[in-house]
Amino acid sequence: MFNKKTIRDVDLRGLRALVRVDFNVPLDEGIVTDDTRLRASLPTLNYLIENGASVVLCSHLGRPKGEVVPSLSLRPVAKKLSELLGQSVGFVAECIGPEVQAAAEKLKAGEILVLENTRFHPEETANDPAFAAELASLADLFVNDAFGSAHRAHASTEGVAHYLPAVAGFLMEKEITYLGAALEKPEHPYVAILGGAKISDKIGVVERLLDQADQLLVGGAMANTFLAAAGNDMAASLVEEESIELAKGLIKKAGKHLMLPVDLVVADAFSEDAAKQVVTPDDVPDGWRAMDIGPRTVEKFSDVVEDARLVVWNGPMGVFEFEPFAAGTKALAEAVAKVEGTTIVGGGDSAAAIQQAGLTDKIDHVSTGGGASLELIEGKKLPGVEILLDRETDDLL
Ligand code: 3PG
Repeated sequence: MFNKKTIRDVDLRGLRALVRVDFNVPLDEGIVTDDTRLRASLPTLNYLIENGASVVLCSHLGRPKGEVVPSLSLRPVAKKLSELLGQSVGFVAECIGPEVQAAAEKLKAGEILVLENTRFHPEETANDPAFAAELASLADLFVNDAFGSAHRAHASTEGVAHYLPAVAGFLMEKEITYLGAALEKPEHPYVAILGGAKISDKIGVVERLLDQADQLLVGGAMANTFLAAAGNDMAASLVEEESIELAKGLIKKAGKHLMLPVDLVVADAFSEDAAKQVVTPDDVPDGWRAMDIGPRTVEKFSDVVEDARLVVWNGPMGVFEFEPFAAGTKALAEAVAKVEGTTIVGGGDSAAAIQQAGLTDKIDHVSTGGGASLELIEGKKLPGVEILLDRETDDLL
């Protein structure tokens, strides 16, 4: 059960709330190309304004490394939010300082102000206390609704909660409740599917899944390193050489619980119009690279998934942003969508694949968090949640 206070526990009338959202959304020349994370924040925002609070919103966008990067401004995101909310939304091109203070103080009940990207300041990722205190000085209450960033102990996700009463928003509550319940006592057969690029980022997750899940299916570039560790020459495929020894250990530990691709779609270049063919992992031609799982792998993975009582999927099976190499990810999305047991998909790319295939409604829970959901799977505590007031034991103000 979710054991933190939420906005439901607060008398919001007349309060100014600093709300941390995860508006780290894809932008193409100033246009938001996927507004899932914006829509996911609407229940919290609507509740706050309907109950008489005013709202100062903050978020990061991308990884600008403490510098002002104009293409990572939240201005176009604020515009999109205003369309979705059906009300005008203010924007200030800073997140701390006198101009922001003045704009925040002018807010009336029901009004929303979006601040500029918190990561334009190096103090954000450093979780600098003075910077966190400045953010906190903008409001009476801190609301963390940024599930996708809850695994980061940054100033706007964790630091600020040292200076204000801090509660969860509805998205945070929903994500943790759903993922927590499914992962705490997983139903069996429990099948986990991992894809994406790097093993080195996901070692803890793989280890935990090998303990908890009945089957771990690995695809995407991550599988290349495992296949190389199993003795295959992966030619020009993306392989993390430094993780091969580790992958060997994991293969040994996993035994039959780990399933790797039995065939691959390989290409002669990393491009959408490259020549392609299907080969077995021990037959990747010189100069070619793995770009997707092959049809036999799709069949094998789909068979395993079919009988699962719980499926957790994070990371695409190939370079699905290139149409010719999207088939494996799409076919697996269809297989997962048919499962009668509980299905959970996390991570921007896999969630996008589900959405592109029009299958979002057929998945029990599509998480807005990638890294955050992986850390939950790994059994880690999320700093952006830990710091919030406990439901039973903490007083609000
Ligand atoms: C995400 O997209 O996973 C979150 O917004 C976190 O982004 P980060 O990995 O740059 O901290």
